[in-house]
Amino acid sequence: MERIEVMISEEEVDKRIREIGEQITKDYAGKEILLICILRGGSFFMCELAKRINLDVKIDFMSCSSYGKGTESSGHIKIIKDLEEGIEGKNVIVVEDIIDSGRTLSHLMDLLKSRQPESLALCTLLDKPERRVVEVPVDYIGFQVPDYFVVGYGLDYDQRYRNLPYIGRVHIDDEVLK
Ligand code: IMP
Ligand code: MG
Repeated sequence: MERIEVMISEEEVDKRIREIGEQITKDYAGKEILLICILRGGSFFMCELAKRINLDVKIDFMSCSSYGKGTESSGHIKIIKDLEEGIEGKNVIVVEDIIDSGRTLSHLMDLLKSRQPESLALCTLLDKPERRVVEVPVDYIGFQVPDYFVVGYGLDYDQRYRNLPYIGRVHIDDEVLK
């Protein structure tokens, strides 16, 4: 039997997103920012974050594949959907659900940097530092989580559980998913 154990409650997640929104509002005072949502996992976080930033905010979306059906990064990254508009001269913040091995983001940040934005920052809801294989500088982190496979708030397990309003870990029978 599969069940989800709450690790970070809805209230905690919402509170932390407000704090990050306030921080970004201060850090980018007087500027317009472009949030780039990494689909599909970053979508729930980006929508909530955008509402907490008190500046001119534009949004765009990008999708790349790194994971197959399981829980391990394949190391192969493919751009499935690119941005609608150019980012040259813009203040860009990439919004991601989780940084695990760092492979996806390291590749993506290099690609975006080559398009010459005015500034480029990375904001992630969750960070799993124990799993890092490739170093990626992260500017805003919601929560650091231990090495469990987590779901909710955009994160999926075989496409399920993205819609949970909290972060949880998956129990299958008596085992916790890693
Ligand atoms: P990375 O390239 O290993 O950093 O993988 C990042 C991507 O893997 C994230 O954007 C997620 O889509 C997925 N991912 C990594 N860890 C988890 C997890 O614990 N739960 C759900 N998805 C995860
Ligand atoms: Mg993702």
